[in-house]
Amino acid sequence: MAFNNSLAEDVLKHADIVQVISSYLPLIKQGKNYKAVCPFHDDTNPSLVVSPEKQFFKCFVCGTGGTAISFVQKYDKCSFGEAVKKVAEIMNYHPEGLESIAKPKKVDEKKEAILKCLHDLTLYYQFALNTPEGKEGLDYFESRKLDASIRNKYKLGYAYKDGKSTIAFLQKKGHSIITIENAGIAKMLKNGEYTDMNEGRVIFPICDIDGNVIGFSARRLVNDDTAKYMNTPETYLFHKTNNLYNIHIAKSAAKLKGYLYICEGFMDVYALSKIGVDAAVATMGTALTDEHIQLLRSLNVEIRLCLDGDLPGQSAMMKASQKLSKAGLKYVVVDNQGSSKDPDEILNEDGKEALEAYLNKLLPKMDFVLNYYLRSNPLKTIEEKRTLIKEFLPFLVRIEEQLELDTYLRKLSKATGFDVEDIRNVVKKAKNKVNGGETATVKEVIEDFHPERKALQKLLTAERELLYQMSQNKAAVAFYEQKVPGFYDDIYRTIANYIIEYAASHDAMNDTGLMMLLEESDIENKQKIINDLIAIYMETHPGECTDELLNNLLETILSERKRISEEDVLKQSLEGKSELEKARIISDYNRRMMLNKNPNDDEDK
Ligand code: UTP
Ligand code: MN
Repeated sequence: MAFNNSLAEDVLKHADIVQVISSYLPLIKQGKNYKAVCPFHDDTNPSLVVSPEKQFFKCFVCGTGGTAISFVQKYDKCSFGEAVKKVAEIMNYHPEGLESIAKPKKVDEKKEAILKCLHDLTLYYQFALNTPEGKEGLDYFESRKLDASIRNKYKLGYAYKDGKSTIAFLQKKGHSIITIENAGIAKMLKNGEYTDMNEGRVIFPICDIDGNVIGFSARRLVNDDTAKYMNTPETYLFHKTNNLYNIHIAKSAAKLKGYLYICEGFMDVYALSKIGVDAAVATMGTALTDEHIQLLRSLNVEIRLCLDGDLPGQSAMMKASQKLSKAGLKYVVVDNQGSSKDPDEILNEDGKEALEAYLNKLLPKMDFVLNYYLRSNPLKTIEEKRTLIKEFLPFLVRIEEQLELDTYLRKLSKATGFDVEDIRNVVKKAKNKVNGGETATVKEVIEDFHPERKALQKLLTAERELLYQMSQNKAAVAFYEQKVPGFYDDIYRTIANYIIEYAASHDAMNDTGLMMLLEESDIENKQKIINDLIAIYMETHPGECTDELLNNLLETILSERKRISEEDVLKQSLEGKSELEKARIISDYNRRMMLNKNPNDDEDK
């Protein structure tokens, strides 16, 4: 059938290319336009530009470009007509004549045969549930409070203990043993006969996004040492990790409501369904995969992660959240901190209102990640604090709202003790790099992020000076080795170690010799270390390496370190205290500092 072009024009008129493409790829706003990593060639930089004004996209590397329709056609490798339909669907626009666009008929016979076989088998399992032999299955569902309406909605069933009769039934229905095997339900016995691998279990059919049964999960009825749920093995149609359970029912509910809950298990999906929430899928206990992400992206709704509150559930949630962030999907997290119950348990033990309240306690992703991070990694060292900021940079650079950014900067500042403005600056730097298309450089920005050095200036100045003397003079190297308990600063400590190594194998110190040693090493952060060393060489230095100079430097280093560690202890002792107690602790601390104060210190003011 020839395609009606005015229909395509009409759809395009009602389409927004930004919305269409962002249901496939994460888009980053930049000025008037949007950018993305081009999916049409192997790329890591965002070279694809989408113009909302012109309603075109174009990749400036591979040259691919066009309208929303041609994007979908290329991305999904489908016909023009199908792409028009998809764009209309994404825009929720349904003009007349759209339905009549014929799908190019490309019949996949193997697929059709398996689908038919699974369809018949599903009905058979459903039927078996209501026979005397299936009563144990029915009793099980009743005990889990799954009534007839849920059982029918989700096509729950029972597989007879006599699995050979099930295979015989399918064959009588006209399905070949090859198809039955391809469908992933036949298990071969030692005598060469086939039986139903699900025999004696209750059945949860798993559907694709169009509602076709493509596999099963079969739950044991007694607590034995077999798997609790047994899934159809990987087949031509069934790939457990690609599927989201209940996606066929959830997709329209999700589009209607604007959100989709992601749970762990079947029972959770039913619990939500019982209280009227159909926009829910289950990952079936697996981690989120790229295929899941693709499915979720195409729905273009807010994702609400609702994984178990126990430790494995929470760490699965953390992984899922990283995956969703990386993919640029909008999501929030159900706040289940403190409770390890799953939604099914909440509904059964605490009732409908409790589950409703639970589902509505939503945390912005950043809050969840921050809570999780602080719970699992108490921040002690500077390195740990910098790592926290580093982990958060990718989130922070994506925040467009000033108020939202401020909120997080304050939270992070509170968690690390770094200045809000210092963190803001590093976010700005990272953002500039990201907008300039340098995705890999966020990591480099953090290498230069040393807000702690401000408070440490006196200590670090002394360490740099001593480091300089060491680079010039073997006596200073020996002094360091004997008297200094290692530099406080990581980089300086690394440089000192190279100096020691150099001094051990050379008669005298030599700037270029030392530089060569560093250049030839394969140490991490090499460039940063070399830059620091060059900066130290270029600074002006007070001259002669006398014993007096070395001893003065040592004294500053030791007293500053003492002060810093006391301040750290002070900070820790303030945590969780009332304002009154804090005031008392601080004034105690100040008094002690006054008493200990070395009169010589005043000269430096
Ligand atoms: P759970 O162990 O949390 O299951 O696994 P559940 O939903 O609470 O199950 P009940 O209440 O004990 O019946 C979550 C999901 O992981 C998959 C299933 O899809 C399950 O719903 N799973 C679990 C398996 O595939 N195999 C297993 O052996 C266990
Ligand atoms: Mn459960």
